[in-house]
Amino acid sequence: MPLVTSTEMFKKAYEGGYAIGAFNVNNMEIIQGITEAAKECNSPVILQVSKGARAYANRTYLVKLVEAAEIETGLPIVLHLDHGDSFETCKSCIDDGFTSVMIDASSKPFEENIAITKQVVDYAHAHGVVVEAELGTLAGVEDEVSVSAEDSSYTRPEDVQEFVQRTGCDSLAIAIGTSHGAYKFKPGTKPQLRFDILEEVQKRLPGFPIVLHGSSSVPQEYVKMVNENGGHMPDAIGVPEDQLRQAAKLAVCKINIDSDLRLAMTGTIRRHFNEHPGDFDPRQYLKPARANIKELVKHKIVDVLGSDNKI
Ligand code: G3H
Ligand code: 13P
Ligand code: ZN
Repeated sequence: MPLVTSTEMFKKAYEGGYAIGAFNVNNMEIIQGITEAAKECNSPVILQVSKGARAYANRTYLVKLVEAAEIETGLPIVLHLDHGDSFETCKSCIDDGFTSVMIDASSKPFEENIAITKQVVDYAHAHGVVVEAELGTLAGVEDEVSVSAEDSSYTRPEDVQEFVQRTGCDSLAIAIGTSHGAYKFKPGTKPQLRFDILEEVQKRLPGFPIVLHGSSSVPQEYVKMVNENGGHMPDAIGVPEDQLRQAAKLAVCKINIDSDLRLAMTGTIRRHFNEHPGDFDPRQYLKPARANIKELVKHKIVDVLGSDNKI
């Protein structure tokens, strides 16, 4: 099966009350860990590449690695651009074989966001590619752009119908309290996503797929693993997994996870070197890192997203 768009996946996910995991990829081991997990769980999956990941690996390698994963697993896989910052970046990815792009003009004024998004939609749809757009701003760091908690803003439900109608986008990322990175909520606080906003959005856009960014849960076992092996991660808590499960039962069809994979990889490699200080063959530490990414993704698919056995 060639790489697919998310159209069919989202339709089934919406109707079935589950979500598709969108995992960020930066190298071969991450791609293998995610897709081996999806294969074992018989789950569709979205592999997403940020502008930074594309700059790190160059524009060819990640596309070819994702194509290799598709050949190896036979899974329905979407290759998605995460946080496209301009028409040019989106066009370049579409021309390179991505099946889905995000244009993130959420920091721009409403009319400007509509104009840029519409330009991307016109080009993407003419090439059989789907488009995710964003309304509202999340706090946190993405591609070196840092948004403080004060500058973040929840999505206004009264804007979503007009935005979707005028842009023709295929899915919409909204801000309901999640944020990017490993430091989302202060320890001791009780994170609570704004389900009232999600439900209002859903009422105004019945059947339309909603996307949640910043959805890592920051597993404490991996924070501990990093810190017990020479790292210095401040205490932090992520998005509670039961709230993600609840969102997946509503209109949320795509849940973005990156930081949890980074934590699993870094924690595992730190521990490996602590336990085997003499190792210098990269395969010795990348192998357990890949295995732990696989376990983490299996847990997300089965216990959080509910996308197992949905092929
Ligand atoms: O939302 C941002 C993603 O976690 C990607 O991060 O831009 O550092 O690759 P990155
Ligand atoms: P996390 O930082 O919570 O993993 O979010 C990732 C994301 O939203 C990628 O677009
Ligand atoms: Zn994001």
